Amino acid sequence: MAFHEKQLPADAPIADKALNWVDARFPLTSTWKAHLSEYYAPKNFNFWYAFGSLALLVLVIQIVTGIFLVMHYKPDAALAFASVEYIMRDVPWGWLVRYLHSTGASAFFIVVYLHMVRGLLYGSYRKPRELVWLFGVGIFLCLMGEAFMGYLLPWGQMSYWGAQVIVNLFGAIPFIGPDLSLWIRGDYVVSDATLNRFFSFHVIAIPLVLIGLVVAHIIALHEVGSNNPDGVEIKEKLDAKGVPLDGVPFHPYYSVHDVMAVAIFLIVFSAVVFFGPEMGGYFLEYNNFVPADSLKTPPHIAPVWYFTPYYSILRAITSDFMVWLIAGVLAYAGLIYFKTNLSRIVKLAVIGIASVIAFVMGICPVLAGLLHINVPLPAFFNGLDAKFFGVVLMGASVIILAGLPWLDHSKVKSIRYRPSWHKYIYILFAITFVVLGYLGVQPPSAIGGYVSKVCTFIYFGFFLLMPWWSAAGTFKPVPDRVVYHPH
Ligand code: HEM
Repeated sequence: MAFHEKQLPADAPIADKALNWVDARFPLTSTWKAHLSEYYAPKNFNFWYAFGSLALLVLVIQIVTGIFLVMHYKPDAALAFASVEYIMRDVPWGWLVRYLHSTGASAFFIVVYLHMVRGLLYGSYRKPRELVWLFGVGIFLCLMGEAFMGYLLPWGQMSYWGAQVIVNLFGAIPFIGPDLSLWIRGDYVVSDATLNRFFSFHVIAIPLVLIGLVVAHIIALHEVGSNNPDGVEIKEKLDAKGVPLDGVPFHPYYSVHDVMAVAIFLIVFSAVVFFGPEMGGYFLEYNNFVPADSLKTPPHIAPVWYFTPYYSILRAITSDFMVWLIAGVLAYAGLIYFKTNLSRIVKLAVIGIASVIAFVMGICPVLAGLLHINVPLPAFFNGLDAKFFGVVLMGASVIILAGLPWLDHSKVKSIRYRPSWHKYIYILFAITFVVLGYLGVQPPSAIGGYVSKVCTFIYFGFFLLMPWWSAAGTFKPVPDRVVYHPH
């Protein structure tokens, strides 16, 4: 394209001339228009729509405070703990920077969980926003990795033993597991080598990927346009100029809304930072104020609250539970066989795959036991170690989110127009998630074990049975245009 600079009158304001000069060389005004002043968002957004901007704000808080922490932190097993204490006591405002960062980590998860709940309620992951959702899941995985690696850096007891437990989980993978966990740690136990690589990932590698994914997330969203609480596509009703009839420019309408949300968020966030940064041991665990000691295992090792639902799923998979899991896999294959319109060949493939999985999970030793083949009894239900399947299900409990756009077969997007009883399913799922989270911070117990097993079934049932329950019931009529009450 030929270089083109607009001719402005000689007496045009200097600011206009400067902008004109830039615009001829860089798409500044057109980017501002495309993503802010002429990005038409549905006019019926509610408070759920503030969490995307809040997530952006927390991302900036984490990056800025992180930069200042790195100036004083020492990624060395002999110095790390003391350098954090130095930040807390001697570096001017160091305590504030550190508490902003540690509280920011929990705030990030609170905001992102609420952001995801919104997606779930209004079906924002459905066509045409599948990629927006998939980039979101990628962001969530990065956030988990970022938080896990960051937690090792203060080199407290929980940092050390938490990392030890999680990295050891990789050891449960057949064949490559032990070598893999050795490779991740860079040593036979969590050590200086581990601290150095986690530091490198925490401050450079993951943030780079995270920022890239956030940019992709927003570009993908702006390509297809935002969903809204009614789940109506506003791009289908345009005025003569091609502007959605139910859209308003993001800036200034929603930038003003978001400033309000930011103010409320900052009040709550500051209250925590200034008055309760440990949050009763949930945001900063008490044991982490004790320096890491490789010879002293804490009696109860629990991850930070945002990981505990998945940690509970890991702990729920014990060898006596394997038989129920096998039954679950076979029953699910049966459901696909009898209750879908897939071609016969696909159905048979599903049955075949499920049988192989069930066989690997334990049918093999069970049969061997029945036939009195010489298989040692302790391996009775353990085709592969229950720990391995715990790890698989823990991973699957996060990855399964990526399947939502294809698991949901509902005729409408928004919960507003779904059969009323669907709400109870969402409420049950939310309660299950909270109960799993609660159990994950508690020391293991018999009753907690049973409850977490039931909750694991409900958790996966919610997703895996979605193709059936989401399509069932009487749907309410979806309006042509969004429902909007001026206020
Ligand atoms: C660093 C984390 C994240 C940031 C900064 C971020 C940012 C944003 C922003 C600014 C928006 C537009 C405003 C809004 O609709 O709220 C948005 C929309 C959206 N985000 Fe995220 N997001 C993040 C994580 C996630 C995650 C983890 C998911 C899901 C797994 C997700 C799924 C979505 C969806 C589906 C939309 C479209 C919502 C709609 O149009 O109804 N996001 N995001």
